[in-house]
Amino acid sequence: MNELFRIVGGALRLDIDKVRNYTAFLADKLEKEGDAVSAGRLRKMLNESDHELRPSEARFPHALPIDGESRFPLIERVNLRAHHEPPIVLSQDQWDVVNEFLSVAKSYAQLDEQGAAGPTNLLMYGPPGSGKSRLARHIAAELGLDLYIARLDGLISSFLGSTAKNIRALFDFAARTPCVLFLDEFDAIAKLRGDTQELGELKRVVNSFIQNLDALGPQSIILAATNHEELLDSAVWRRFVYRLALGYPPPDLRRQMWNDFLRPLDFGDRDLELLVDLSEGFSGSDIQEVSRRLHRRRITTQQAPELKDAFLVLQNIGIGEGQERRFLSALRGMHVDAIARALRDRNEKLYSHAALAHLLGVSKATAYRRTLKGGKQRGGKEHSKT
Ligand SMILES: Nc1ncnc2c1ncn2[C@@H]1O[C@H](COP(=O)(O)OP(=O)(O)O)[C@@H](O)[C@H]1O
Ligand SMILES: [Mg+2]
Repeated sequence: MNELFRIVGGALRLDIDKVRNYTAFLADKLEKEGDAVSAGRLRKMLNESDHELRPSEARFPHALPIDGESRFPLIERVNLRAHHEPPIVLSQDQWDVVNEFLSVAKSYAQLDEQGAAGPTNLLMYGPPGSGKSRLARHIAAELGLDLYIARLDGLISSFLGSTAKNIRALFDFAARTPCVLFLDEFDAIAKLRGDTQELGELKRVVNSFIQNLDALGPQSIILAATNHEELLDSAVWRRFVYRLALGYPPPDLRRQMWNDFLRPLDFGDRDLELLVDLSEGFSGSDIQEVSRRLHRRRITTQQAPELKDAFLVLQNIGIGEGQERRFLSALRGMHVDAIARALRDRNEKLYSHAALAHLLGVSKATAYRRTLKGGKQRGGKEHSKT
């Protein structure tokens, strides 16, 4: 039904592209629901009206807006079926926000009828690798809509005049295309506004961006993501009714991630407990990367990876943003004895001698000796090598 409102809305404003895009979308939907006859009829109507009505530059309703200077597309369509992805792991509170947003987006027409429709937009914020882009794909897939990504830094980097044009092109596209529009690197817009050295002209650009956002109306679904929420001012925050904080996953979510991502590799419950602790400060993306490497290792070595392999991969996952949060980073470059000692100092119960043996790939006796030796030296001369 939503489509019908949009088609009528487009027709009343003489917005042919909008009418056509939503009619094509409705035809696809009807076909999926089994009504091939209506779908065929709509498509026939589209084909027949194609030539007479439309000026030549509007020939491709799905043509992406491009930057006037660089000729690069301002937005990019995401192929939602391109890859198989592991399940998303969020806390209950986070799922509540996502699900509420989804249900509002799905039932906007009813809300509109009762005068209860507000902007349908969601701001996701959190460090890199916390799942913002992943969630954008999830939301578009759940709504059965195409996902288009606009990188705001790209939109803004060019001349002021073209920036204003770009913004208009972007919102025009969103207004007449059934889609989820994902504004990635959203802080790029806030940076401009906060920079006091910039000209008033630049501020106007930002304000026009915000006005465009306001003018879109509840039928357009907008997602925005930022790694730097502290850069967004209150005027920008207020535009987003739904807000989702993503962060470094706490132990219970890490446990679920390891469990989901490592399947079907067989790591036991005790192994998982160690992985959960060792991955403190890791992002969801880091945990997925470790898991991916272990899956790959199984294929190349034809052997199921063990805990010691996982430990090595965990230790050498690349240095990146957020790595100072990882407790494992503090052990980087240490001698294995010092590592064994540090782990025991951290949690003697979890890092039992048996666990350490497993983790380091040595016998229990050796693991015991290592910590013993460390124990003797504690408080004495540092034994670690770099
Ligand atoms: N909470 C999570 N649950 C499941 N997978 C996650 C989660 N966070 C990150 N990932 C994985 O890490 C990958 C990269 O995350 P991404 O969404 O690109 O992060 P961001 O956009 O926040 O930088 C995702 O494709 C996903 O597979
Ligand atoms: Mg991203």
